[in-house]
Amino acid sequence: MRKVYLYARFQRFWHWMQALIIFALLFSGMEIHGLFKLMGYEAAFHMHNYFAMGLLAFILLAFFWYITTGDFRQYLTEGNLLDKILLQARYYMNGIFRNEPHPFKKNEISRLNPLQRITYLMLTLVGLPAQIIVGFIYFYFNELVALGMDPALLAPIAYFHTLLAYLLVGFVIMHVYMTTTGHTLTSNIKAMVTGWEEVEDD
Ligand code: HEM
Repeated sequence: MRKVYLYARFQRFWHWMQALIIFALLFSGMEIHGLFKLMGYEAAFHMHNYFAMGLLAFILLAFFWYITTGDFRQYLTEGNLLDKILLQARYYMNGIFRNEPHPFKKNEISRLNPLQRITYLMLTLVGLPAQIIVGFIYFYFNELVALGMDPALLAPIAYFHTLLAYLLVGFVIMHVYMTTTGHTLTSNIKAMVTGWEEVEDD
């Protein structure tokens, strides 16, 4: 085994801020949705809007960081992506329970397996932007109606925003489970805290 530095300081900061903001958004969103009553609708509404603005600012900052440092290359895959995703999925469904080695070894140039690459890419480029855009349409709904938008769109927009929020809950549960499938139960999480991880020698 050897120790490799996988996550730069900004990346760890961004990751945990993103997690914190998303938990705050899910929590306040659930209260706005009426699932429980804790701080009151008005306070939950304001909290939700402030954290949404914060998330947008952080996402733009993170995009800037990933592009300018070139780290976005970690998300690109050479060769047949589908074959690689299937290989990784088969490992999670089968090989992992037979103690087989991980099909893709981690190193400083390639820290994410193909399934992680596609999942995180979809989340960051499709899921979160869609949720933020729909949220902004919801927030400025009256202004948009004044500009000519059909008021009947309010319900579909609200349902879509809620659907995406539930999908995000699904992602978080799956994501936290998946992070325990590293070399040891906590090795991936430790890497996201310290930046360093022990990986198999090539
Ligand atoms: C709540 C919302 C969360 C979101 C949106 C999120 C998103 C992400 C993303 C995009 C990455 C890839 C970073 C990169 O390598 O470029 C990542 C990695 C990681 N996340 Fe999260 N995360 C969340 C919560 C959590 C939580 C609660 C934990 C642990 C308790 C966690 C643990 C990790 C770990 C260990 C990695 C390293 C790569 C891996 O093992 O998959 N995350 N996360």
